[in-house]
Amino acid sequence: MRLELKGITKRFGSLVANDSVNLVAEPGQIHCLLGENGAGKSTLMNVLYGLYQADAGEILIDGRVVKFSGPGDAMAAGIGMVHQHFMLIPVFTVAENVILGHEPTKALGFLNMDEARKRVREISDRFGFDVDPDAIVGELPVGVQQRVEIIKALIGDAQVLVFDEPTAVLTPQETDELMAIMKQLRDAGKAIVFITHKLREVKEVADKITVIRLGKVVGEAKPTSTQAELASMMVGRAVDLDVNKTPAKPADVKFSVKNLEVFNHLGQKVVDDVSFDIHAGEILVFAGVQGNGQTELTEAILGLHTRVHGSIVLDGHELIGQSVKHRLDWGLGFVPEDRTLDGLVADFSIAENLMLDRSDRKPFAKGLLLQLKYLAEFAAEKVKQFDIRTQGINQRAGALSGGNQQKVVLARELSRELRILVASQPTRGLDVGSIEFVHEQIVATRDQGLPVMIVATELDEATQLGDRIAVMYRGKIVGIVPADTERARLGQMMAGVVA
Ligand SMILES: Nc1ncnc2c1ncn2[C@@H]1O[C@H](COP(=O)(O)OP(=O)(O)O)[C@@H](O)[C@H]1O
Ligand SMILES: [Mg+2]
Repeated sequence: MRLELKGITKRFGSLVANDSVNLVAEPGQIHCLLGENGAGKSTLMNVLYGLYQADAGEILIDGRVVKFSGPGDAMAAGIGMVHQHFMLIPVFTVAENVILGHEPTKALGFLNMDEARKRVREISDRFGFDVDPDAIVGELPVGVQQRVEIIKALIGDAQVLVFDEPTAVLTPQETDELMAIMKQLRDAGKAIVFITHKLREVKEVADKITVIRLGKVVGEAKPTSTQAELASMMVGRAVDLDVNKTPAKPADVKFSVKNLEVFNHLGQKVVDDVSFDIHAGEILVFAGVQGNGQTELTEAILGLHTRVHGSIVLDGHELIGQSVKHRLDWGLGFVPEDRTLDGLVADFSIAENLMLDRSDRKPFAKGLLLQLKYLAEFAAEKVKQFDIRTQGINQRAGALSGGNQQKVVLARELSRELRILVASQPTRGLDVGSIEFVHEQIVATRDQGLPVMIVATELDEATQLGDRIAVMYRGKIVGIVPADTERARLGQMMAGVVA
């Protein structure tokens, strides 16, 4: 089945998320849709899946125009979608989930339990999925749950399979397994649309590559293109993909966490007996699949959790029991995971955001008076130094792009007097150009002799940026290893295999 998207335009208010996009998916091909966060990839797929109605353009299947008013129509037409967030019910078995997700089709009609189990087994055997129809979904590893989603699509007789950023939730091994599965599906004659912003994955599986930027197709790339070529197409300028840094020269231990336990609001232990040290002049990266306690660990360091046991010592000073403000004043530099929630006040200006918690003191205030002239100069200097693309320092921070918002947060934190920098996924959602800049700033911070703690979910970033890597799994540190540790071994650790 040949799928063609022709001139698809989709607007959200004044934002053009898709601007006359053309895309063809052919049987027996893996078509990569490559683009940065916010480029419009998911919007396009939601139009295809009937979740959004396009403002212009059409969808053709084997040359015939089709109209989808919902996912049911798309599924019935042979389109299967593997979402990043699985639409599975954890307490049900695989077969039960398959029945629930199944829209009766002409070919199959309604499925009963026995048929569902039989079909799951057939598909699992055929493609080597290793999925037991009677397993409880919630007890399966994430990578296997994803295969259940694929099975759901295949049972509905999908001929076109769309994967929207499927590897974000996977370990490196699970990612490799998924790539192998996509290749098998291709070889079985399916048309695969693989959406990603990860160049390594594109290089590995793509038969055809369409690059999309700011809602527009910028062109097709050859599978033989280098990662650097793909990156520059994606961003629109040349980028250096490597982190340039010299070997660390670690000095004394400046930051020491001992036997730390953190409980979330449900009373679950999300950080479990975690201990580590960071030396001055060293970057320790916390790697692991998202959701294994890394976020809560950094939040506890900032002081956002109330149920915390253990010890967090920064430069000889115990932070547990202290307020967030006290910790920041003591020299904790903090770049939060979600800059729009915790890092910035969207309705404040860029200048105000650059000052934020220091508006009551020198040099920003004299007595009760805000030193507006100083603030303006300071902000203008930071905008220049951090290359923040803005119409002016009085622009609302919320109006900036993600990369520029992140630069504001970094500029603010790095212009304070710090004893440590803690940054949680500092490059999440940034374009490769901004990533390069953020990495440079982090390395420069280390080279000034500060300890640096980073949470990374991309293994490439962890190994490039880190001097040492701590891998977390289910709230515990599985091991702390040198940054040049083999990728495969790090992957095993991310799956919980003790180093
Ligand atoms: N439902 C929506 N309402 C308003 N804006 C949206 C909506 N969905 C996406 N957008 C915007 O459309 C653009 C493209 O988003 P998206 O398709 O999710 O990008 P991608 O999947 O490539 O990361 C972004 O600027 C995003 O903020
Ligand atoms: Mg998306």
